[in-house]
Amino acid sequence: MRYDTPSLNRWHSRVHDSSFGYVSTQGAPLVDLLDPRPGERVLDLGCGTGVLTAQIAARGADVLGIDGSSAMIEKALAQHPGIDFIVGDGHDFTVADAYDAVFSNAALHWMNREPGMVIANIHQALTPGGRFVAEMGGAGNCAELTAAMLTAWREYGLREPDLPWYFPTPAEYARRLEQEGFVVRVLEYFDRPTPLDECPRGAADWVRMFASSVLEGLPPEIVEPLLGRVNELAAPALRRETGWMADYVRLRFAAVRR
Ligand code: BEZ
Repeated sequence: MRYDTPSLNRWHSRVHDSSFGYVSTQGAPLVDLLDPRPGERVLDLGCGTGVLTAQIAARGADVLGIDGSSAMIEKALAQHPGIDFIVGDGHDFTVADAYDAVFSNAALHWMNREPGMVIANIHQALTPGGRFVAEMGGAGNCAELTAAMLTAWREYGLREPDLPWYFPTPAEYARRLEQEGFVVRVLEYFDRPTPLDECPRGAADWVRMFASSVLEGLPPEIVEPLLGRVNELAAPALRRETGWMADYVRLRFAAVRR
């Protein structure tokens, strides 16, 4: 196997584990959709700290977790002894022996450089008839959050930030899957408002955690006021009495390699 470009997930392992435990808890139905069987070979692409990888292993599958973040992989190895984890990138991997299924939760939207290449790599990693079961951000994901960012950047006279995600429409992703040799069996597209429990400063904290690349190179003295403005702009849509909610939209699918 070859895994050499560690850039798949740009978020912090602490975040993946804690309030964003939703990644794991809300991922449970996706494991049901995968329906892993004892002895099956499963690849978990963008496995983070390996919580869902462990759930797949607990059903008897022989699973390998891959993630672009070495910090996440270190944590996964420490927390789940007996399961194989490796650092790797969806844009650039090959496997020696084909898998029965590739699984991915909340990771494909970070692989934004060439989504078609990621799907092609997944295709070549599967046996004919192998399943590709995944959930990712879909079109409109974080629309209020990103609109607030873009407005604040414009108000501060800054160049529009490059957002580090890929949120396709269901039609676009189905077309890509079919182009790369998959038959789409299930495709769901739904809102999932998600509490930002670990973001006491709401949208500002979210930007720091999940879009830190857009802050790189900015004059340090404008970062705080800029993020304060993001908060003001996002609050009417996203701040509730109980706390901040992110406007997440999910794309969930199961496809089969032709
Ligand atoms: C998501 O899971 O949809 C997501 C999380 C952080 C940044 C962007 C998207």
